[in-house]
Amino acid sequence: MSDFVHARYRNAFIEALAGALGKRAAEVELLVKPAEPAHGDFTFPTFALAKAERKAPPAIAAAVAPKVQVPGLEVTAVGPYINARLLSQPYVGQVVDAARKGGSAYGASQDGAGKTVVIDYSSPNIAKPIGFHHIRTTLLGHAIANLYRSQGYRVEGVNYLGDWGKQFGLVAVGFKEFGDPARQQDMAHLVDVYVKANAKAEEDPEFDAKAKAFFREMEDGNEDALRLWREFRATSLEGFKQVYARLGITFEHYDGESLYHGKMDAVIAEIARTVGTLESQGALIVNMPYADDEPPVLLKKKDGSTLYATRDLAAAFDRFARFHFDIALYVVAVDQALHFKQVFRVLEKMGVPWVNRCTHVAFGRVHGMSTRKGQVVLLNDVVDEAKNRALEKVSVNVAEGRIHTDDVEKLAEQIGLGAVIFGDLKNRRASDYTFDWEEVLTFEGHTGPYLQYAYARTVNLLKKGGGAPGSYQPGLLTLPEELDLARAVGRFPEMIGEALKNNEPSYVARHLLEVAAAFSRWYTLGNQDRDKRVLVEEPDLRGARLALADAVRATLVTGLTLLGMAAPESM
Ligand code: ARG
Repeated sequence: MSDFVHARYRNAFIEALAGALGKRAAEVELLVKPAEPAHGDFTFPTFALAKAERKAPPAIAAAVAPKVQVPGLEVTAVGPYINARLLSQPYVGQVVDAARKGGSAYGASQDGAGKTVVIDYSSPNIAKPIGFHHIRTTLLGHAIANLYRSQGYRVEGVNYLGDWGKQFGLVAVGFKEFGDPARQQDMAHLVDVYVKANAKAEEDPEFDAKAKAFFREMEDGNEDALRLWREFRATSLEGFKQVYARLGITFEHYDGESLYHGKMDAVIAEIARTVGTLESQGALIVNMPYADDEPPVLLKKKDGSTLYATRDLAAAFDRFARFHFDIALYVVAVDQALHFKQVFRVLEKMGVPWVNRCTHVAFGRVHGMSTRKGQVVLLNDVVDEAKNRALEKVSVNVAEGRIHTDDVEKLAEQIGLGAVIFGDLKNRRASDYTFDWEEVLTFEGHTGPYLQYAYARTVNLLKKGGGAPGSYQPGLLTLPEELDLARAVGRFPEMIGEALKNNEPSYVARHLLEVAAAFSRWYTLGNQDRDKRVLVEEPDLRGARLALADAVRATLVTGLTLLGMAAPESM
């Protein structure tokens, strides 16, 4: 990341400061922060230094600032701070070149080359309705996987399907009563059967016992039970894959919980050997200290069947054995925080050296996401609703000549999905949020469609201007709005870095809004002042401005793609 233009200036400022202060750059680096926009780009507060040297902070700042000289940076003392402001030359030109060179992979690096990340995401439960958390994990996980890939990591995306458990018993037993044999290969139908069977099991203990018995038969390897399970699984998986295709998501592995069926005894034996196990009320638990109100980690139920935690422990060993991961991420709702805390603690107690490579990437809840048909039961429902709602808007815009496209259906799907994806990813993942179809679909505001529209505008601008110029004169880009815009473009790679450090795509999402806003301020200058139009008559100036527009285009298309959104060229 460090060889990007913006970071280069930051590093130069740090080096020069360190020189002037007679300190090591690493020490200075910890103190240098991004400045408040009014004060420049980087700032160094002198408080700590002043304390150590028993001097007044403003006096130190005033004495040191003149000694800090970096070409392209204006360094000044303001009260207790030493501030550095990027000068438009040569910065703007350097940023424009870097972004254009990056193209649709601007900000990419090989920082992660040779490293492997395993990302467990999406992981829906087969033959059960999806929850809102499955939407979030799918979108977040996809964006995080893309971000790692962009930095050269080998990414192993794992869809850890919930494909083992009593729900199959419910579907199997329920099918005889509620099922339509002609619709056995219809995912929605299976979910419907599950919902009915689940309700019935709650009222009818005999029915519930039958479902449990069916699952027991599966665990015991009964071939008839397994055959039916395989069919239901295949039907559900087919349904999921269709949605993933619409979202442009592919997984390296579909390794569900069923993969660990029959492989759990070895793990349990290893836990028994290293940490110890204990029988408690007929069940087998991990023998380790628990907090007062903490439920113990269950490895086996009374009837001998294994549990979610047992399977996750087995899966963790399997993943390390197969991938030797440097990083293992579990993109799963915050509701499961205790589960992962416990799984990681068991691994730690077992003395597993790679436990600190595992992270639960937790996220909060979504409220209010329903469709006009009512409750969401399939991921497909959300995608369909997004498309249909976007279609209404897009059709109006097409009819009134504001949007041009020869494939309204496709554009509507791109915009609708973009709206849902961005509506989710712009939020800090840990926070809960309320989803609102109207809000995410507006073309003005902090939305996906707004960003897509900004991108289409850059494309259109370049088209109208006769294409992006090969060579141009960066020295002509002197407007303050041009420096602001270049700064937003210049900081983009840094934001990828921040996003990765925190497994937080919202850094990239929000930064894209800043890029689009700075672009819009620049682009609309021409409404007041003809000389400030992007497409001015003067060819050299027009060329320089088109090059800047091209850099913005590259930033937006890269960002949209990383977040998993489409970037339609015309809309
Ligand atoms: N299938 C689970 C659910 O829907 C999520 C699985 C998450 N991954 C894991 N390794 N436990 O809640």
